[in-house]
Amino acid sequence: MTQQSNTQDLSKSLVGQAAVQYIEENMLIGLGTGSTATFMLQALAQRIEQGLHIKGAVPSSQTTHDLAQRLGIPLTDLATYPELDLYIDGADEIDPQLNLLKGAGGALVREKIVATAAHRFIVIADSSKLVERLISRFPLPVEVIPFASTPARKHLEHLGASVTLRQHANTTFLTDNHNIILDCTFPHGFDDLKDLNVQIKNIVGVVETGLFLHMAERALIGNPTGVQQILPADTHQG
Ligand code: 5RP
Repeated sequence: MTQQSNTQDLSKSLVGQAAVQYIEENMLIGLGTGSTATFMLQALAQRIEQGLHIKGAVPSSQTTHDLAQRLGIPLTDLATYPELDLYIDGADEIDPQLNLLKGAGGALVREKIVATAAHRFIVIADSSKLVERLISRFPLPVEVIPFASTPARKHLEHLGASVTLRQHANTTFLTDNHNIILDCTFPHGFDDLKDLNVQIKNIVGVVETGLFLHMAERALIGNPTGVQQILPADTHQG
């Protein structure tokens, strides 16, 4: 393990521990997906071992479901509890308004469903995820029904996107919902995040995008020395 990944893991572990302090007795929790969320799940399991009781947790992916089960976190689903108290998840990019780019792990659709079901959403990350403008380091993932792959790709290109079909282990990556992901970059830029999101969601066959706009109430940002809390900046963009 390199020194950089050690430092990142320490930061992620600290934010994971800080985030679970927001979980109160009898809450219904949404569980995010990814390496930062994994640290949060471990910290939650520890609090449960120490006596915290939660009503249940809804996982945002099969991977998180399996991990939570192994850690002894009581699971439930949105059919039983369509409203949750709190969702905690990582992100790939976070802008000053706390708009998020998510989906590098491919779980964006369920993540957005669980996040939307929750009254509060806390995003957790190490400081490498802070950006001035979204889609600057990571492509925008767009989950698409496979039947619509080619026409959806053409529409995305029409919006100025350079599109790559996500692959995994030399084959087409399929989400938990058995859909494909088209990763989009915008070499000529774009005007407005909200507008871009609406235009992409209007494409028939698109299930969701990885843009989570104005959803997070606060960000907990980890550094090797501690955790900083960020609230959305006043100026609202997108
Ligand atoms: C998965 C996600 C993750 O939250 C995002 O990729 C961050 O992951 P990590 O904490 O491993 O950097 O959106 O779909």
